Amino acid sequence: MAPAGGFAVIGAGSDFKGKITVSVLITCIVAASSGLIFGYDIGISGGVTTMVPFLQKFFPSIRRKAAEAKTNMYCVYDSQVLTSFTSSLYMAGLAASLVASRLTTTLGRKNTMVLGGCTFLVGAAINGGAANIAMLILGRILLGFGVGFTNQATPVYLSEVAPPRWRGAFNTGFQFFIGIGVVAANCINYGTAKHSWGWRLSLGLAVVPAAIMTIGALLISDTPSSLVERGKLAQAKKSLAKVRGKDIDVEPELADLIKSREIAKAANQEPFVTIFERQYRPHLVMAFAIPFFQQVTGINIIAFYAPVLFQSVGFGSDSALIAAIILGVVNLGSILVSTFVVDRYGRRFLFLLGGIQMFVCQVAVACVLEATTGVSGSKHISKSYAILVLVLMCTYAAGFGWSWGPLSWLIPSEIFPMKIRPTGQSISVAVNFATTFVLSQTFLTMLCHFKFGTFLFYAGWIAVMTIFVAFFLPETKGIPLDSMYTVWEQHWYWCRFVQRQPSQNFYDGK
Ligand code: BGC
Repeated sequence: MAPAGGFAVIGAGSDFKGKITVSVLITCIVAASSGLIFGYDIGISGGVTTMVPFLQKFFPSIRRKAAEAKTNMYCVYDSQVLTSFTSSLYMAGLAASLVASRLTTTLGRKNTMVLGGCTFLVGAAINGGAANIAMLILGRILLGFGVGFTNQATPVYLSEVAPPRWRGAFNTGFQFFIGIGVVAANCINYGTAKHSWGWRLSLGLAVVPAAIMTIGALLISDTPSSLVERGKLAQAKKSLAKVRGKDIDVEPELADLIKSREIAKAANQEPFVTIFERQYRPHLVMAFAIPFFQQVTGINIIAFYAPVLFQSVGFGSDSALIAAIILGVVNLGSILVSTFVVDRYGRRFLFLLGGIQMFVCQVAVACVLEATTGVSGSKHISKSYAILVLVLMCTYAAGFGWSWGPLSWLIPSEIFPMKIRPTGQSISVAVNFATTFVLSQTFLTMLCHFKFGTFLFYAGWIAVMTIFVAFFLPETKGIPLDSMYTVWEQHWYWCRFVQRQPSQNFYDGK
């Protein structure tokens, strides 16, 4: 059955595909709230690193440099030590996300989320009370472990629980909560920036989103797939009945899950080995390419350093934070657009639209900065041009919000067969963190040396990824996870890698 425009013939009893029950809605909202902690951290670290008392206490040399303000505007914050504060989280997250593959398989998706929330909570408390750099870094490492676990487990959770027809919409919830975390953190930074202990409050308050998501995760049941995978068939049936609704016959879906588990068990191979088999090459390429591309859109450069960026293009420190808040709100609105569109027009449409939009904005930002601040970056940008930069960045953030933001979590969580799904997601999160680490470690130096050219660098990558999607990413909207192999079989390029599967289940109408 051709999957291109929708999904295969619906077999008897499989009408769960289109049904959104209150239970599945609540479960997925609660699960998606795991995104809060990641978003909160992204928002907080950008703001805290511009707070004077924070810099004075932990990074006095940067503070001195900023105070002298004789440096070229692109270079004020160019410090490896400062960026290592931000990016230490990503190294820890990288390690944790790889371990998380085992955990989500053996402990389940839900328990991995709980574990992530608790670890993050401890890290937040240590950061809030930090007396020296060592405590600061230790705290961040724990935060990193936390988001490593939750970012791995949550998207998989959402994709496994959501009705296939609305999987995209449900999955965007994760990015939506990341966005809420970012905006909340920006608002908190705005409020605390004026106080000498403000940074402590900003960092310490991370316990709040951690507590919210941990309690939430404790209240939901694990995904039917994960329960089946761990041999808990009775619980799996209960969990399925709960999310699909009372009047739905869940037996066929359960039978499919059991079948998938049997296939996985029969192979009995280390998933990190299996995933390198030729037949999974397309999946693997996506697990690497999608998160890598997401990061080279340059989003974190904007997210982490929006306040820094706005300050250095001439906004005062208050308006810098306001600018970051505006950017965050625009991003949030655009994620909602994605929620409503992703299962109707598909993933590819949003990727292509967002890609073109982001490309144009990055090129325009580069041109405006070149024209106004000069090649050396020593001329001051006028208020009206600074606002133009803000408008361009908002348009860019909207483009990201309806494309690479949510879809980079969605695609890796939906393309893999059950037996290597956690592994694929782990690789994807690890690549995401590794790329974020390298970029955040190098961005400020790059900005200092390449100046406005930095934005052209990202524009170039956006062009590459948009072309990549056009040619290599098959449309996955509406296809049940267990039938996902069909998209590769029918793809002009990837078909040569995958083995044609005998019909695996009756959802294909066979
Ligand atoms: C990305 C983060 C980014 C965030 C921005 C996420 O999807 O993975 O790196 O900071 O979106 O909202």
